[in-house]
Amino acid sequence: MNGPILVTGAGGVGKTTVSAALGVAAAQAGYETLVLTVDPARRLATALGLDALHNVPTANEKLPTLWAAMLDSEASWDQIARSHAPPEAADRLVNSEFFHAITRHFPASQSYAAAEAMAQHLDERRWDVVIVDTPPASGGIEFFTAPNELTNLVGGRLFRWLTGGAIPGRRELFNVAARPALRIVDIALGSDLLERVGAFLFDLRTTYDGLRKRSQDIEKYFRRSTTIVVTTSDPAPVAEAARFFKELPQVARPPAAIVFNRTLPASWEEAEIPSDATRALARNLALWAREAHRQETVRDEFAARYRTSIVSIPWKPTAPTDLTSLADLIKDTGLVADLVGS
Ligand SMILES: Nc1ncnc2c1ncn2[C@@H]1O[C@H](COP(=O)(O)OP(=O)(O)OP(=O)(O)O)[C@@H](O)[C@H]1O
Ligand SMILES: [Mg+2]
Repeated sequence: MNGPILVTGAGGVGKTTVSAALGVAAAQAGYETLVLTVDPARRLATALGLDALHNVPTANEKLPTLWAAMLDSEASWDQIARSHAPPEAADRLVNSEFFHAITRHFPASQSYAAAEAMAQHLDERRWDVVIVDTPPASGGIEFFTAPNELTNLVGGRLFRWLTGGAIPGRRELFNVAARPALRIVDIALGSDLLERVGAFLFDLRTTYDGLRKRSQDIEKYFRRSTTIVVTTSDPAPVAEAARFFKELPQVARPPAAIVFNRTLPASWEEAEIPSDATRALARNLALWAREAHRQETVRDEFAARYRTSIVSIPWKPTAPTDLTSLADLIKDTGLVADLVGS
């Protein structure tokens, strides 16, 4: 099997739609395909066969080579705790308010959960093609850096101090060194908050070795992955896309292609204004012609600056949410042939 195909880009540009379209097209070409998706719109989820919340891969009734699973960050985190911490510590972790706070609010935690889920499915070696719709990234290449950030968080200095030295498993040291200090603060505060935080950090710390090893596996998958960056032609997502091109080579292979989604047809640039057009219509046509031209310029400049291949996906009048319209969306782009071979 090839490495995974990672679909990245700014929020709202069409990552989930493009991931689904790639999945449908690859499955129709006969590949056993898994799409790991994040929070798809209701109708898209239905088209993929994900009516209930499924974080386990489910085959599509209409297209049995197409499998889909939802990335469910919370469920993944419970599983991460259970696979990396000793059973008792894992029980305490999954019931801990601090654990839920960290897994919900630590910026990279959704990305890490997605990366871990991706690695699990890749380990199974069941699919010819695995497509990962990455969570909306707050900081560009966060999906790729999350494993490292997380191990640093869990192995960081604060944790070491609170949980007793660099060697995981030294609860006695926590008891001897940090706990009395925390207790004094708690007495002053009239609560057991800090002591509970300390105990929690100790439990979290037991996941460190497992997490570090897992992060290495994930990074191996990243090195074999093919990334495509999705954007619209608007300045903000294009700037975000440019960041992927600049920063990704530091942690993975450079993006294989950039997909400009929701583009206007180039033919609109030369749209003829009928002689009997009202002024309003003529003005409208001229504005759209200018916008189509601007979009083409943005694409050309991007291609020249980053020496990358450009794929354009047209702006459809209705959201593509069934198997036919999804396949149709990318059928003229050659994307599937480029990414997984024809
Ligand atoms: N080519 C297209 N033509 C028309 N509508 C589209 C097209 N691509 C995507 N859309 C619509 O745009 C909206 C955003 O798409 P999508 O959910 O795939 O974006 P996303 O990048 O996954 O967003 P998020 O960052 O929130 O996860 C959806 O309503 C989708 O149906
Ligand atoms: Mg999405």
